Amino acid sequence: MRSPDLSVEIAGVRFPNPILPASGTFGFGEEFFEIYDLNVLGGIVTKSLRFNYFPGNPQPRIYETPCGLLNSIGIPSDGYEYFKIHHLPFLNKLSIPKVISIAGNSIDDYVMLIEHLNKDDGIDVIELNVSCPNLEKEGKTFDSDKEVLIDVVRKVLSESSYPVFVKLSPNTNIIDNAVLVEELGADGVVIANTLLGMAIDIEKKIPVFKNIFAGFSGPCVKPQILRLVWQVADRVNIPIIASGGITNFKDAIEFLLAGATLLEVGTANFFNLYTMPEIIKGIEDYLIRNNISEIGKIIGFARKENIL
Ligand SMILES: Cc1cc2nc3c(=O)[nH]c(=O)nc-3n(C[C@H](O)[C@H](O)[C@H](O)COP(=O)(O)O)c2cc1C
Repeated sequence: MRSPDLSVEIAGVRFPNPILPASGTFGFGEEFFEIYDLNVLGGIVTKSLRFNYFPGNPQPRIYETPCGLLNSIGIPSDGYEYFKIHHLPFLNKLSIPKVISIAGNSIDDYVMLIEHLNKDDGIDVIELNVSCPNLEKEGKTFDSDKEVLIDVVRKVLSESSYPVFVKLSPNTNIIDNAVLVEELGADGVVIANTLLGMAIDIEKKIPVFKNIFAGFSGPCVKPQILRLVWQVADRVNIPIIASGGITNFKDAIEFLLAGATLLEVGTANFFNLYTMPEIIKGIEDYLIRNNISEIGKIIGFARKENIL
């Protein structure tokens, strides 16, 4: 059998395969480029970029658990001007699609950032991270309030000259929010950002993180995120980008069968630097073993209508 076609297309952007790094776990790619050629990936998703410099949260920011990672990084960013000078030229050397993740403290922050990114070359997609705190609403995440979510998605969609994926938090009513962002015209929905967790330092007898709660990610969240992808696929027609616990090719195939079109790999990049190239090879071998000529044929295949 010829090599199977691993490529997928969303909003006119062709991704050579469905494996991308999850935002914030791969920086802007420079460090990993010293380890392998990033052009083997389906695309790159940058760490969330803010318009202005932002320091992020105080230490500690990371806490390992036996089955996953807690992080309270707070999306530090050097800001747009630094990105344009120091990271964008590197990204522009890559031949794969570039997805720029954006974050903000206010809706105006997002709009200003989009206005600047619109003028840049080499960007393919905007990933709108709405799981960060809105400082105009007592730090509640943008997607925890329906009206705010509508406002930010509408403004970014109307300003952006690129397709927009909206990345939602699983700690809200994510299924309704996915339906909402589809109605507003998003080109894809990312399911999902980190779950909420916490840890307590038993010697100090206080929570480990200053913000008490932290984002929880890694292999242990996969069954929950897979379930959400399945449920969201029941309700929306726009492409789903899965993010949560993808660690090996079997996880990847499960998410594809459940209905995801693209897959973002996060925490697994920390414990095996070659996770993503290995997953891509594993998907290719799986398709050959199963005599499947193109990846599109397995997307959503496990859904009820196929089983019945
Ligand atoms: C250290 C760390 C930093 C992260 N930073 C961001 C970020 O800047 N923007 C974002 O949208 N998600 C961020 N995330 C969430 C990941 O992109 C991903 O959605 C989540 O970790 C679930 O995938 P995983 O289980 O494969 O890690 C971060 C996750 C981790 C572990």
